[in-house]
Amino acid sequence: MYQILQKFHSGWAYLVLVLLLVAVVNAIIGITSKKEFTAKDRKIGLFTLIVTHIQFLVALFLYFVSPLGKAAFGQMSNAALRLTSLEHPLINLIAIALITIGWSSHKKLINSEAKFKKFAIFYGLGLILILSRLPWSLWL
Ligand code: HEM
Ligand code: HEM
Repeated sequence: MYQILQKFHSGWAYLVLVLLLVAVVNAIIGITSKKEFTAKDRKIGLFTLIVTHIQFLVALFLYFVSPLGKAAFGQMSNAALRLTSLEHPLINLIAIALITIGWSSHKKLINSEAKFKKFAIFYGLGLILILSRLPWSLWL
């Protein structure tokens, strides 16, 4: 079970990062070229949200079966274990919350530029947070 979840989490991470990057770049292009917010832009935002939520759900299970997750929690003097058992999960939880807030709040707006700005800021912050606490040495 552990290996399946770990492999999924590791591979799905590429999809999460690529889609977040596409969503942020798309939003920045939308703002700078003063485009109208269309169904395509909504789909990019929604698809990114779903892929991110799936990563989160699987990560929750992974956290409890991985030797580097909850089992390693508390070993604060070991930087690698502190990263996978505390910093990476906590920062990613905040990142995914920001992404979800960005999605929810864009729905309440009518103006195209305002919608693009929500995505640029909230998805952009989420992406930066995720990148700041990835266990790169385990992954690549
Ligand atoms: C632990 C697991 C999950 C949590 C805590 C969670 C939480 C949330 C929250 C708080 C929202 C925002 C609702 C709103 O303000 O509109 C949301 C939206 C959404 N979630 Fe999740 N989610 C989880 C897993 C999933 C999974 C596994 C999927 C897809 C397979 C998913 C798909 C969606 C979609 C499509 C929306 C957008 C709904 C809409 O605005 O139309 N979520 N989720
Ligand atoms: C979008 C959010 C996330 C991304 C992109 C992401 C990405 C990654 C990547 C690339 C790895 C290294 C995988 C490898 O060993 O090849 C990893 C490991 C890990 N992640 Fe995440 N992660 C995310 C969210 C989370 C969350 C929310 C949790 C916990 C609730 C979590 C728990 C873990 C754990 C415990 C490991 C170590 C797994 C092991 O090798 O045993 N991740 N993550």
